[in-house]
Amino acid sequence: MDFAVSVLLGTFILSVLVLFIFIASMAKGLFGSGAAAVQIFDGDEIGAVEDPAATKAQRGNLQQAMDPSSSASQRTAREVATRLRADQSSSLVVGVCLTMSVVWLVLASLAGLIASLKLHLPDWLVEQAWITFGRIRPMHLNLVAYGWCSMAGIGVAIWLIPRLLKTELVGARYALAGGALWSIGVAAGTVAIALGQSDGLEWLEFPWQIDILLVIGGALVGFPLWLTLLKRKVEHLYVSVWYIGAGLLWFPVLFLVANWPGLHFGVQQATMNWWFAHNVLGLWFTPLALAASYYFIPKVLGKPIHSYNLSLLGFWSLAFFYSQVGGHHLIGGPVPSWLITISIVQSMMMVVPVIAVAINQHLTVAGNFRALLYSPTLRFIVLGAMMYTAASVQGSLQALRSVNAVTHFTHYTVAHAHLGLYGFYSMVMFGSIYFIMPRVMKWEWPFPWMISAHFWLVVGGFAIYFIGLSFGGWYQGLAMLNKDVPFMDSVRLTIPYLEARSLGGAIMTLGHLVFAAHFVMMGWKFGPRRLGAALLASPDAVPDATSAAAPARTGVPA
Ligand code: HEM
Ligand code: HEM
Repeated sequence: MDFAVSVLLGTFILSVLVLFIFIASMAKGLFGSGAAAVQIFDGDEIGAVEDPAATKAQRGNLQQAMDPSSSASQRTAREVATRLRADQSSSLVVGVCLTMSVVWLVLASLAGLIASLKLHLPDWLVEQAWITFGRIRPMHLNLVAYGWCSMAGIGVAIWLIPRLLKTELVGARYALAGGALWSIGVAAGTVAIALGQSDGLEWLEFPWQIDILLVIGGALVGFPLWLTLLKRKVEHLYVSVWYIGAGLLWFPVLFLVANWPGLHFGVQQATMNWWFAHNVLGLWFTPLALAASYYFIPKVLGKPIHSYNLSLLGFWSLAFFYSQVGGHHLIGGPVPSWLITISIVQSMMMVVPVIAVAINQHLTVAGNFRALLYSPTLRFIVLGAMMYTAASVQGSLQALRSVNAVTHFTHYTVAHAHLGLYGFYSMVMFGSIYFIMPRVMKWEWPFPWMISAHFWLVVGGFAIYFIGLSFGGWYQGLAMLNKDVPFMDSVRLTIPYLEARSLGGAIMTLGHLVFAAHFVMMGWKFGPRRLGAALLASPDAVPDATSAAAPARTGVPA
């Protein structure tokens, strides 16, 4: 057997073996009793809901829906003080990262909309080279991937780190410098693509000289995590810390290896290209969004995650099985078939982490779905978590040769891409930003109706986008496989579906503009000053029995 095949087969068998050893060790209680699940709560806080994006009335209804007997927050003064210090230590860098993410979101959406319109209006905007499809499409992709998605993920991760480690963020200035370098890199890379300077590999278009900014920026952003870990005040690491730590470690390795100039050529380069492109989804974006949903779902509901052991199983099986799935992008391509087969097997094995996350998060929310009516944060994040399961199950099926023969080279793949990076990832980020910003700005969202408008516009727009493109792509694939159908007919039949995508995309873009306008208003502290949900220390926080120095009632605005 070829050496490379043996190595890949060996790593697969090892992954399965380690999975069984892992499950056996969990059954023997070697990973602890699950005490870490309640670590994000304090004292009697379980049962007390929390959503800074909710109005006072919504918060009241949310509490009634969850646990009417626990009518007020039961936080101790000491815990409130710890959280205030944690939030304060990260607020500047989080505010800057999230603001940049919103700027990139608006620009990316406009670029996506222009690219979409061009696919059914090919004579529109053809005078200038920079706005032709070949440039505006990679500008859209890089702006969403490294601008919106990465900046939002970094901002949310940096806010979560001190919260989860119950200490202040150490080295915030490194993260600030990293976020600034990263943003300069995204701006420079986008301008370079507009000017026709591209490395020519999908997901890796930024010229390698500009990539250096992202590598250094990413390393600087990750540094505070390790510094803060050394100062942590908790014994067990909550599962979100595992995901954030791993994501911040995996990304620089992937990005550096994939962008190293002159290292890969020919078929090897294509293999590396898709090794990177799928790993950046599974080992960078996915862990950041899962970390956020594992924190915010229990936190908003005031209810610990259903099974802490299951959450660890989800994390480790993601780590075991994700790294070799990239080959499924090259099914039918000029690469060794054993490599493709292994990637398909690994793609099916991905069902393990996906189902682990799905069962765990579903059982945490189960019985309390009414809470979604009252919590803006939860509405976005729970929908996003469901889309994670949907995108992943769809992805596993799409990796099968028989299905891929129809869907590859069609708009169906683009629909799946948006189900993952939009339906799942972006939704979780929207929800997280709604929770975090009131804590960062010490101000409530000025106009709650704008949150609802944002939600319904993006959900409605995305439904049109996804359904239209999935059907259009499937029919396109069947037509392309049919030898009796001329190729141009397979193109022509997609036009109504492409128009539907432009309509859906325009509605989504409108939703993003509403979100961005609301974000700016929040930054300017617009709207009435309402004391309540946005404040961490509600007047009814109880004194900490163990702290003699604690004031009787905190009542301190966050
Ligand atoms: C078990 C999990 C998943 C599997 C097995 C999977 C599988 C696949 C497959 C087979 C393709 C199409 C390859 C082709 O024919 O060209 C694909 C494309 C894609 N997937 Fe997934 N997927 C999974 C989850 C996700 C998630 C969670 C996301 C988002 C966070 C995502 C984002 C994408 C994107 C963006 C593309 C398009 C890449 C491109 O062509 O540029 N997938 N996936
Ligand atoms: C922030 C939200 C968005 C995210 C995360 C996102 C993500 C992506 C990704 C990952 C791809 C590559 C897909 C692939 O190669 O298979 C892509 C392509 C594309 N997106 Fe988006 N997108 C977003 C918003 C939009 C919007 C609002 C539109 C407007 C219609 C849009 C239109 C497009 C178009 C036209 C393409 C190129 C498809 C092609 O080459 O056939 N996207 N987007």
